[in-house]
Amino acid sequence: MKMTSKELRQKWLDFYKSKGHKDVGAVSLVGDGTTGVMFNVAGMQPLMPYLLGKPHPLGKRLCNVQGCMRTVDIDSVGDSSHFTFFEMMGNWSLGDYFKKEKTAWTVELLTEVFGLEKDKLCTTVFAGDESAPRDEETASLVIGLGIKPEHVFYLPKSDNWWELEGTVGTPCGPDNEWFYPIRNLENPTFPEDYVEIGNDVYMQYRKLEKGYEPLAGKNVDTGFGFDRMLLFLNGLSDAYETDLFTAVIAELEALSGKNYHEGGDAQKAMRIIADHTRTTVMLIGDSTGVLPSNTGAGYILRRIMRRAIRYCRQLGVSPDAMLSVAKIFIEEVYDEAYPLLKEKEAFILEEIKKEAERFDATLTSGIKEFEKCVQGLARKNEFMQKSNPGYVPETVIGGKAAFRLYDTYGFPLELTEELAAERGLTVDTHGFDEAFKEHQEKSRVLNKGEAKGGLESHSEMAVKYHTATHLLNAALKQILSPDCNQKGSNITDERMRFDFNFPRPMTAEEIKAVEDLVNQKIKEDIPVVYREMSLEEARREHFVGVFDSKYGEVVKTYSIGEFSKEMCGGPHVTHTGVLGKFVIQKEQSSSAGIRRIKAILTE
Ligand code: ALA
Repeated sequence: MKMTSKELRQKWLDFYKSKGHKDVGAVSLVGDGTTGVMFNVAGMQPLMPYLLGKPHPLGKRLCNVQGCMRTVDIDSVGDSSHFTFFEMMGNWSLGDYFKKEKTAWTVELLTEVFGLEKDKLCTTVFAGDESAPRDEETASLVIGLGIKPEHVFYLPKSDNWWELEGTVGTPCGPDNEWFYPIRNLENPTFPEDYVEIGNDVYMQYRKLEKGYEPLAGKNVDTGFGFDRMLLFLNGLSDAYETDLFTAVIAELEALSGKNYHEGGDAQKAMRIIADHTRTTVMLIGDSTGVLPSNTGAGYILRRIMRRAIRYCRQLGVSPDAMLSVAKIFIEEVYDEAYPLLKEKEAFILEEIKKEAERFDATLTSGIKEFEKCVQGLARKNEFMQKSNPGYVPETVIGGKAAFRLYDTYGFPLELTEELAAERGLTVDTHGFDEAFKEHQEKSRVLNKGEAKGGLESHSEMAVKYHTATHLLNAALKQILSPDCNQKGSNITDERMRFDFNFPRPMTAEEIKAVEDLVNQKIKEDIPVVYREMSLEEARREHFVGVFDSKYGEVVKTYSIGEFSKEMCGGPHVTHTGVLGKFVIQKEQSSSAGIRRIKAILTE
């Protein structure tokens, strides 16, 4: 059944609402720190506590359409099916209904609402192993609903089990996956002609360090890919041909004078610019306001933006093309589903412009520098081969050269790797890490010499302010929103300044509540505990900080009871009682989406 993206969104929500579900809406794309996963990769991620048993304020039946990001796919974007940002249509039973209702609703929705042919649907269930039994119940339920018995397949854990990779303590279980033939083929064979459209996870286990334990409640966690379903319903095979992208591709064709349907490099570039600009809009426009930077989520964003800028160059358009594309997403495609984007439109466009200016300025000279490395390598190989016919040519760009491209020209390592791959070369990433570390060490020594009255001086007052910063960070998360994150801080012996993301000024009541909470924690005189631990452990224990630390597995952490847990190099006071009285003097705007607090400690 042909359908627009706006209709599909509405139909999914209306169907589950008619089955007693409440729409919980989408939350930030950025992980909330409870799993250590940087971005939401599945609709269930923000609902984790509720799937583990915490009562949800809206009840036991929930649904939404949630934005997700899968960074593993960045390099695959450019083909006809991969995205970095996509949406997942979800619905959940929190210890309420289970397999009988869920299988019936999935079949009803797919066939009666979406008009897919029942005879063509294929489905897979868990074959069973030592962690959980064979799912005969689901198999017989779907057959009872009219799915052909020869279309029901039992598959092992590698296929029919869903869990959030790399986590512990999270809910998981066997799943029931649904497949439909691509382009609605007439006589399709499974699995060659089929593509997965979604799955129902019967989430009744909790993942342990090793193995699983049963959960008290039996949950259902459903996820159907929004972008992919749109493709199916409209009988298309190229994900960039749905109405989410038609206006954007037309704009890129107009700007470049090239035809998308001719395929080749221009098509690939248009797809990359379209996908990466959409993700950029969603991240900068997210409630947590991610900005391009050199760490954490900000680094992923920078990597995506710079890849798009490079492909603008390749397509023969200026990076301003990203602005026109962003406008289409904000004003036409996601205007109803993501009204926050419209509110932040000027800010989003400004940030794209700034990053494009920053990078475009060095891109040309960086590419020249890269070409020099390639030529150097070729010359060396030629020379060596002349004098030694058995010589095996070198195909690796040195780590120092890659670091120079990063440091001087702003080339993310992955961009250099991609350029290298286009020439059949690789990059010495280990050498890059070494060069990076060496550089960090040098800057540290330099900064130490220059620091005046700042943290490096370790004055007693600066150390106190540093601990107060942790208390303030935790208090803001508790009083305002768990989405508030530190965006900067500056400490002198006289005062502290703290920047964090929050979309509006704080009210007088909120300022007072934050101040009171910090003072209460000072009064409780809580010990400040220092511990070194593995990144994995810090993640598990919900420490706040930048989690993609590539350079070193052991991290330093400070906790103040259960109230504040941060990865941090210190130093700190040993117990909060010594801080005195915490007073917020000012709360003001620092830049769009970022607030600044100035505070002092008095006796
Ligand atoms: N959590 C399941 C998925 O992401 C529904 O596919």
